Amino acid sequence: MTADTLAIYPGSFDPLTNGHVDIIDRGSRLFDRIIVAILLNVEKSPLFTVAERVEIAREVFSKYPNVEVDTFDGLLVEYARHRRAGVIVRGLRAISDFEYEMQMALMNRHLNPEVETVFMMPAEPYTYVSSRIVKEVVALGGSVSSLVPSLVEERLRDKKHGRATLRA
Ligand code: PNS
Repeated sequence: MTADTLAIYPGSFDPLTNGHVDIIDRGSRLFDRIIVAILLNVEKSPLFTVAERVEIAREVFSKYPNVEVDTFDGLLVEYARHRRAGVIVRGLRAISDFEYEMQMALMNRHLNPEVETVFMMPAEPYTYVSSRIVKEVVALGGSVSSLVPSLVEERLRDKKHGRATLRA
């Protein structure tokens, strides 16, 4: 009998996009369990607080019984060791992602050779979508409706109009 494969999908998720959802959808079919791991304190001024990002991800992934949402701090490989995960999943959209992703994957392998990084390609419509560009488009009044989950779109609208976004 083989042990269950636990994978970690780490990132900032500020905000979660349909590209992230697509990767989780694929990953949830490939791995026994997958943890969406949101990095604490990644940016000095994120758009969404970590609590808001956790709430959004939990809601969006609630229909996946093998997907968990968690936060982590410090080295990713230490978090993987602590969770006993053997795989790190990263989405690879274009050649421009490659250099940074390769550097990160090889550094993580150097730090912990027991954890394998697996790259997954999102569906074509999401290959140009990033959290950064979504925030920019929304700030300038553009629509991102087909690029982020409807909950994220709603929360982006709330942010823009200065409304509190964390539901009690
Ligand atoms: O969504 P992002 O911002 O591209 O995710 C980057 C993330 C969170 C995966 C990366 O910054 C990370 O793993 N940070 C934890 C610190 C760490 O382990 N650094 C050493 C490996 S490069």
